Amino acid sequence: MEFPISRSIGARFEYLPEAGSTNDVLVTRATGPDAGAWPDLSVIVTDNQTGGRGRLGRVWMAPSGKSLAISVLLRPRLASGPLPVNRFGWFPLLAGAAMTLAVRAVVDAAAPGGTDGEEAPRHEVTLKWPNDVLIDGYKVSGVLSELLPDASGLCIGTGVNLALDEHDLPTLTSTSLLLVTGSVPDPDAVLAAYLTSLSSLVAKFLEHGADPDASGLRAEVSELCGTLGSAVRVELPGGNDLVGTAVGLDTDGRLIVEDQTNGELQAVAAGDVTHLRY
Ligand code: BTN
Repeated sequence: MEFPISRSIGARFEYLPEAGSTNDVLVTRATGPDAGAWPDLSVIVTDNQTGGRGRLGRVWMAPSGKSLAISVLLRPRLASGPLPVNRFGWFPLLAGAAMTLAVRAVVDAAAPGGTDGEEAPRHEVTLKWPNDVLIDGYKVSGVLSELLPDASGLCIGTGVNLALDEHDLPTLTSTSLLLVTGSVPDPDAVLAAYLTSLSSLVAKFLEHGADPDASGLRAEVSELCGTLGSAVRVELPGGNDLVGTAVGLDTDGRLIVEDQTNGELQAVAAGDVTHLRY
């Protein structure tokens, strides 16, 4: 891959040749003595993250030079002032939606044209609630969103597997853009597509008072989200499992699941979702 990334994207953009966790770096800077120098939509990126953290206390593994770790700072505001923390629930979903669009663009651009009028098989790029990006059911990207300690904003960290080969994959359910398309993607293009989509989705959300319906984002994100309409098992943070059908996203970005045992609707704020194939 061609690094370092030369293009400057975001309100403040820094490429680090190496970082432990880009989220840790960004949170430390955005809350430190120089916090004023880190405005809304500041970005830190590396292709060599040595201590990546994942959701639910997991480790995020990424071999050097083969993936991107991107952290974006959000300090969301409405015309009336800062957006209250209890309305931050949609931002992690918007990050997943933005990366879904970026990955789709790469995968679609690489699709070989059909010969003799035959359509080449298309890959399915979808969002798995809350913010994993799957290609044909295999994970290519994940997001870890963390509240700043003073609750003045949010750090959205996204990892995307660009050039991992089959020996590098951290789990049996992972994939990379190289494995799907057969060529190493341009990291700059993936980054630019992701940041462009994320900033426009966030702007749209805030312009409409952080209302997922007025902004049209409930419909837009639902369209990308392969979890909706699927039979799912959700491992809830307390250790219990919820099995049922995912039927929607609520106003706070929670997943609404119809419990198969009693037909009741449950709103899930956090958990690990598996799509069940019966
Ligand atoms: C997950 O799927 O569990 C989330 C993975 C999030 C990884 C990203 S890479 C950039 C940022 N820095 C981290 O330490 N984690 C996130």
